[in-house]
This record gives sequence, C-alpha cells and structure tokens, in this order.
Amino acid sequence: MNLMRTVHVSLGSRSYPIFIGGKILSDLGGHCAALQLGRRCAIISDQNVAPLYAAKAAASLRKAGFDPLLATVPAGESSKNLKWFQSCCDLLAGHRLERKSFIVALGGGVVGDLAGFVAAAYLRGIAFVQAPTSLLAQVDSSVGGKVGVNLAAGKNLVGAFHQPRLVLCDLAALRTLQPREFRAGLAEVIKYGIICDQALFARLERDLPLLLRRDGEVLAEVVARCCEIKADIVRQDETETGLRAILNFGHTIGHAIEAMAGYGKYLHGEAIAIGQAAAAKLSVRATGLPAEEAARIEKLLVRAGLPAAIKLSARRQTALIGAMRLDKKVNDGQVRFVLARRIGQVEPGHKIPPAWIRDALAA
Ligand code: GLY
Repeated sequence: MNLMRTVHVSLGSRSYPIFIGGKILSDLGGHCAALQLGRRCAIISDQNVAPLYAAKAAASLRKAGFDPLLATVPAGESSKNLKWFQSCCDLLAGHRLERKSFIVALGGGVVGDLAGFVAAAYLRGIAFVQAPTSLLAQVDSSVGGKVGVNLAAGKNLVGAFHQPRLVLCDLAALRTLQPREFRAGLAEVIKYGIICDQALFARLERDLPLLLRRDGEVLAEVVARCCEIKADIVRQDETETGLRAILNFGHTIGHAIEAMAGYGKYLHGEAIAIGQAAAAKLSVRATGLPAEEAARIEKLLVRAGLPAAIKLSARRQTALIGAMRLDKKVNDGQVRFVLARRIGQVEPGHKIPPAWIRDALAA
C-alpha cells in the first residue's frame, strides 16, 4: 500500500507525472516545490472535502515554503457553473495571485474541472495541480486536461484544455468516500475495461468484492491501470480530434440524463452507468457486440451497485434525445455514439436512429 506508482502523461512540454499511493497528500508541498512555481497558491476544494483534507494539504504546502489560500465551494455538480467560476477568480484577484502562482484542485471531479478552468482562464492561464480525492477523479477527470463548467443547456459546454503540472492520487482519501460516490467512480473504471482492456474487465468481474471492500493493493493496481490507459489515449489525441472520443463511451446518454434530471440528481458515474448499459444494447444492434458481452457489461454495472436503466415516459424520452443534441460530439446536428464491437474494443462516430435509442432505453 505504501508503494508509490507513477504514470507519465507524455505531452512534450506539457508532460506531467501522476503519482498514486497511500497517504501521499502529506507530500503535496514537496511535489509542488519541484515545479518551481511562485510562493502564493490557492487550494480550491468543496465543503465535504475541505474539512477532511484542506488542513493537511495547506500544512504540507506551508512546510515547503508556500503561502496557500483556501477557497471552498458547496459540494456537488451544482457548483460547477460560471457563478462559482467567477467567485473563485474574484478571490484569486482579491488576494493578488500572480502569473507564477498556482492552484491546487483538492476534491472530486467537480472541484477538479472548476479549479482547472479557473487556472486555465485566470491571468490567461496559471499552473495547477490536481489532488483528486474521489475514485472518479483519480481514474478519469484529473488526468488529461479537460476543464470546464456546465451550462443549464448541457454538461461541460464551457471549458478549455489545460493540463495540470502534476496529479497526486492519494489512495487513503478513497477510504473516506461515501459508498455512493465510490460506486459512481467504479462506472468509469468499468468503462476502461470496455473501451480498451478486456483483461481489466475480466479482473473487475473477478475482484469486484475486493474493490468494494476498498482493498488497498487492488485499488492501487486498478487506479494505476486506468491512469495508464487514459494517459496513453491523451498522449495520442490530447484535444479529442479522434481517438480520445472513446473515453466518452456511455457519456452521450449519460450527460443528457444529468442535464435533463437537473445537475446533482444523478451522480456523473450513475448517469454514465445507465448510458453504458444503453450503449452496450445499441452496440449489439449496430456494431455486432455479442449479446452475452452486453449482458456481462450490464451485470457488472449492477453488481457494482450502479443503475443500468432509467424509467422514462415517452415525453421524457423525447426530451432526453433532444438533450443529446447538445452533446459536444454532435456533428452537423447529428448525435454520434461510441459503440463496442467487443469488450475491450470500441469505435466513435456512430449515427444512431432515435427509434433505436428509445428501444435501448426501454429494454
Ligand atoms: N473524461 C473524458 C476525457 O477526458 O476525455
């Protein structure tokens, strides 16, 4: 458990390491010192995470000679908006943070996306460090530089690509996660198996009970494997001109569910679990995914305690399909799906008739 694993995201001058280990948040200051940034910095966190970890993070930064400021936003997806973006920017300006100053995003995916977007925009861009404390953020959102906020019209519709200088995945933080949050993170873990690693998928089928018990060794290996997969995809397609879209398996329907239900009703991982089960059904019909593999996907999601279906009236189904048109992957007004040929092999760019989407949601 104390062994630290390192995954490199190779992006030329924007390359950075992901450190994965137990209790590494207490080394935050030392890791930041190696980046040769200014003394002043801001920890952006939320009201759930800050009481648990902000003092430890700030103490580590102070010990390394930094002067941290703490900004705390309410927990949950409803803080990932332009209002909180502006509050954070105002706070940074009020405390005269400078070009060499930096931000530490301490929290889950909402905090990472919001704080990263603040870092991308403040003074036209300052450095930031991701210190993800949720499983979902450790395996997905903290890596790869997608930052941004939601609009009422859709998820992540305003944002930027702004790579962190360092990602610090403290596995000890996963111990304090609420079970619902932990399970939501498993939806992204399962996604990695589906999109490009059938051995990982089989391991998840086998080791799910250990993961649900948050076994340290299994968690370390699984988080590191997910980060390796993401780093490899981002290395090949940083700004999503093609391959990176496969990371959105299950997200077209998932994002629409989040937007339609009102941000915060479904956790992101729950919405994409429903989206992945539906995408698996569409894949059986459109790309020849064997029906038994679609069933394995659905079964694993359900065993992980995730929803794999959503009950909707015909009117709400129409609204959901309408919400999908605001997905960023829409091309010429046509919604595009990432679909699977086999577990471990997917491809982006599939146009699907609305009637098939209705069938997949109803099944
Ligand atoms: N979470 C999808 C991506 O980073 O591309």
